[in-house]
Amino acid sequence: MTFRQLFDAASSTYTYLIADDATHEAVLIDPVIEQLERDLALLRDNGLTLRYTLDTHVHADHVTAAQAIKQALGVQQGNTQAGSGVQTAVSRDCNAAGYDRYLGDGDVILFGHEEILVIATPGHTAGSVSFLWRDRLFTGDALLIGGCGRTDFQSGSAEALYHSITVKLFALDEQVLVYPGHDYKGRRVSSIGEEKLFNARITGKTLAEFVQTMASLGLPAPKRIHEAVPANLVGGAELPAGLRAPASTALADRQSVSVQQFSEQWRETEASARALLIDVRTPAEFSQEHVDGAENIPLDQLDAIALMGRTGPGKPVFIICQPGTRSQLATERLRAAGMTHVVHVDGGTNAWRMAGLPLAKQGAVR
Ligand SMILES: [Fe+2]
Repeated sequence: MTFRQLFDAASSTYTYLIADDATHEAVLIDPVIEQLERDLALLRDNGLTLRYTLDTHVHADHVTAAQAIKQALGVQQGNTQAGSGVQTAVSRDCNAAGYDRYLGDGDVILFGHEEILVIATPGHTAGSVSFLWRDRLFTGDALLIGGCGRTDFQSGSAEALYHSITVKLFALDEQVLVYPGHDYKGRRVSSIGEEKLFNARITGKTLAEFVQTMASLGLPAPKRIHEAVPANLVGGAELPAGLRAPASTALADRQSVSVQQFSEQWRETEASARALLIDVRTPAEFSQEHVDGAENIPLDQLDAIALMGRTGPGKPVFIICQPGTRSQLATERLRAAGMTHVVHVDGGTNAWRMAGLPLAKQGAVR
């Protein structure tokens, strides 16, 4: 197996890379946007295929690279719409949007021949989780070396954190290695046994004493909280402009796209990896003929908030109708509601048919 502990000095954040050497499949835990190029180079130089980015929680002190890494790998594979086969994942209790997978306590993440167990460890934030891989535990900001994460914002709770650490994490084998999300003193790894004996915040403290300690920390707000939390609630920052696909292939950045341009990418992209294509006609019109893989949401039922909840505001959505009038209207409405990448497919299904491209009828392609 390949294992790396990587460090972002500006935020004192540890990012972890784990790879299965037999299949070359990898996961990244808590990637940081400023270290995007470092992490992409590491994957490339080691010939690794990234399967997951795993965020231990919605961070307040740095922006996650989850979304940007997925997009960057998609660009490298010539698949600008879907952003590669990487899945971004975070706890469902974070109430974040735009991730591919939402994790709960006891979930298992599979990659190559390896597996990672998700352990819900709320307290630092309500959605904080730890990841257990073999004998290594990645604790994010729940359990730190000699300390623990703060509990005074993002639905934090000292009571919950006390329970997470003393009941859930301290129940693990004492040999299990503890890899934290941060360290500010250059320490890299500890163990459950060491933390049970020497953790200054929690060892020998009752719940009431711990709650009192956490309430009296008087820490200033993290410097980047107002930038980091909103960005991390949708999977982090978009890929920097310089790393995006050339304009000719980045269909999502356009106002409208021709059926020729759109259909090429649509048909080359695996169904599970495609962007959303919304057909805004009536169900009756849709059942007559439609682009295979399109989803029918009639114009009067289109809800920007619900769509953004499914895709995140930065993800592309393509809109189609028959001649193109309703899709243009729908595109304008969604853009006005704050969706940035809404693209209208010019000419609609009429143009699609005239270009000699196949259309589906009641689920079949003809
Ligand atoms: Fe945190």
